[in-house]
Amino acid sequence: MRKKIINTLIAASIAGLGLFGYFMYQKHGKIIPFVEQLSKNQVGDLADIQPKSQKDAIYVGSQKCKKCHDDQFDQWSHSYHTKMIQDVKKDPLSIVGDFATLPPEASFKKEDIVYTIGSKFKQRYMMTQEINGTQDFIVGNYQWNTQVKKWQPYSVTKDWYHDGFDENNSKVGTSKTCDGCHFTGVMSQDTRTEPSVSCEACHGPGSKHAEKPKENEVYKASNADPKRATEVCLQCHMRNRDKRLEATDMHSLFGDVRDYPMGYEPGKPLNVYKTKAPFDGNDTDEFYANGVGKKNRTQGNEFVKSMMYKHGITCINCHNPHQLDNTVEKPLGDASCMKCHSFGSPIGPHQSSIEAHTHHKTDSKGSSCIECHMPKIGKHLPSSPATVRTHIFGFITPAETKKYKVPNACTNCHQDKSLDWADKSLSKWGMSQWTK
Ligand code: HEC
Ligand code: HEC
Ligand code: HEC
Ligand code: HEC
Ligand code: HEC
Ligand code: HEC
Ligand code: HEC
Ligand code: HEC
Repeated sequence: MRKKIINTLIAASIAGLGLFGYFMYQKHGKIIPFVEQLSKNQVGDLADIQPKSQKDAIYVGSQKCKKCHDDQFDQWSHSYHTKMIQDVKKDPLSIVGDFATLPPEASFKKEDIVYTIGSKFKQRYMMTQEINGTQDFIVGNYQWNTQVKKWQPYSVTKDWYHDGFDENNSKVGTSKTCDGCHFTGVMSQDTRTEPSVSCEACHGPGSKHAEKPKENEVYKASNADPKRATEVCLQCHMRNRDKRLEATDMHSLFGDVRDYPMGYEPGKPLNVYKTKAPFDGNDTDEFYANGVGKKNRTQGNEFVKSMMYKHGITCINCHNPHQLDNTVEKPLGDASCMKCHSFGSPIGPHQSSIEAHTHHKTDSKGSSCIECHMPKIGKHLPSSPATVRTHIFGFITPAETKKYKVPNACTNCHQDKSLDWADKSLSKWGMSQWTK
């Protein structure tokens, strides 16, 4: 009799456990694949986890990798990472500016251009120039704004450290200001191994691996803990300051100050090589007073403040690092959020359906995750339309717009409505505050 009771109890608890398990799976199922990532061995901010075989390796270029990694090469070759710096001799069509309308004050002619910088939002132009006895490049004093199709003046010092370089672009070498992030090999070894963001910018120098792959590893960011994994992207996608400025002043670094983390290689601890752009809760050229970015290339500064980053989510959970999807041209939509999120799940949204969460119809633009949680907050140039989406992954309230002048999702879309109207609607929905 007693045995029977025990057996029944055991059976009931197994069933209970099963039910509980099923319930947990329903609630947490989508996030389970990421738990391993969330709990990955935390190595800390200062450990050097670059594979030993890369310590004395050099950069060799993507053609070497293509031989054995055709798939990754193919995906990467269609991405904008390969378009950043283009050789105009190899591809004259890479020039997108309209040279028939180039203002006469321009310091350069079409024939002088060696490389183009960028193309999607704006394009700048590189010409060869000797600076302090070494062969370098300079950037022209006019840039093409691709979004509004106009030439606009470009000054490196206005864009950059205001007191770190000569005001005349022709005296400022790109080796100090741009090439660390736009060429592969410059950041740590000061060689322009390859234009643009190539394999080794994220995997580190590959000479030894390319010769004997089995014996010599290269760094793969997803093998590390999430914070360290994100660093390969943050080396470029973040507004930084020269680490040396912690110990010395701008005057002594005049003409040599860097905005890129000089010396960094994937796997090395990024924070040793740079300081992030300062933010003390006040409005700056780069950030609104609530920490949201004003400009392009603030993805990293914003993302490290987000709850998702704190919970172990990385850039590559949303962007395939080779293809670079989740862009306007290669959108992934709500599905890329619903990989982890689901309605009524502990990580949110807490409501039981999309309409209950967004208060818009399911197929409305007002129900798109990124429209509300990644509103367009920044511009590429002052005269460009706002196209830069925030990576802070919270919700910017209309009240914050009143206080900080930062754009918010509701009136970005409902342009004919007032901030009070948006605030009232949110109150009615019981969502007027972003509670963390
Ligand atoms: C001769 C062929 C060959 C060449 C050339 C080559 N690789 Fe590899 N690569 C391999 C093989 C084989 C493996 C799998 C190694 C293993 O399993 O031990 C690999 C693995 C990798 C990995 C995965 C590492 C991991 O931890 O999972 C990356 C990343 C990589 N290679 C990048 C590169 C890059 C970048 C280059 C160019 C600099 C390159 N490879 C050149 C053959 C090659
Ligand atoms: C923008 C950074 C970046 C660039 C550029 C890049 N990779 Fe990767 N690569 C990564 C990351 C991050 C991973 C890990 C992906 C994962 O685990 O989901 C990876 C993974 C790999 C792997 C392991 C298999 C896989 O696909 O996960 C190979 C092999 C590889 N990369 C080769 C290359 C080659 C060859 C190139 C150049 C043609 C290249 N990568 C360019 C960041 C990059
Ligand atoms: C060495 C510098 C560098 C590194 C490392 C780097 N990026 Fe980029 N990334 C750039 C530059 C420069 C552009 C702009 C390219 C252009 O517009 O031609 C860019 C563009 C992008 C874009 C927009 C692509 C598009 O189609 O418009 C995405 C998304 C992106 N990067 C994600 C990543 C992720 C994720 C990582 C890390 C795995 C990463 N990047 C690592 C420099 C870098
Ligand atoms: C710390 C790394 C870094 C440095 C240094 C840097 N850039 Fe960039 N740049 C990026 C990244 C990352 C992007 C793309 C992401 C974005 O714009 O949000 C970008 C985007 C651009 C674009 C727009 C690309 C397009 O397709 O529209 C241009 C033009 C550009 N940079 C020019 C420059 C010039 C000129 C310099 C030097 C005076 C410079 N950058 C220095 C990282 C850097
Ligand atoms: C939770 C998902 C998610 C994470 C995490 C994330 N992104 Fe994004 N990212 C997006 C989406 C969605 C867009 C906008 C796509 C659109 O405009 O349609 C975007 C846009 C971008 C763009 C601009 C693309 C363009 O159209 O020019 C860059 C660059 C970028 N992300 C880089 C990064 C970097 C670097 C990280 C890590 C620091 C990161 N992202 C983390 C989802 C994410
Ligand atoms: C790889 C998994 C993953 C993906 C993909 C993902 N998220 Fe998240 N998200 C999380 C986790 C984990 C949290 C933290 C939940 C918590 O607060 O406990 C989170 C939190 C959030 C929050 C709440 C932030 C806060 O401050 O409380 C928002 C908003 C959010 N995500 C929006 C998005 C959007 C929009 C997308 C798609 C562009 C997305 N997420 C894609 C895992 C993910
Ligand atoms: C119409 C705007 C809007 C849209 C569209 C929207 N959200 Fe939200 N979301 C909010 C607001 C406002 C909050 C803050 C709720 C609060 O504080 O009560 C929020 C909160 C969240 C949170 C935090 C947890 C919670 O429930 O409070 C997550 C996670 C989230 N949203 C994810 C998503 C995802 C995923 C999508 C796409 C399916 C999405 N949201 C679409 C406005 C929106
Ligand atoms: C990307 C566009 C978009 C965003 C972002 C957006 N909406 Fe809407 N909204 C719409 C559209 C389209 C409709 C028309 C009805 C529908 O599709 O549900 C609408 C309808 C409404 C309505 C009912 C009709 C009316 O005009 O009175 C209210 C109220 C509303 N939105 C408030 C908000 C608030 C508050 C926010 C910010 C949390 C917001 N919306 C964000 C596109 C948007």
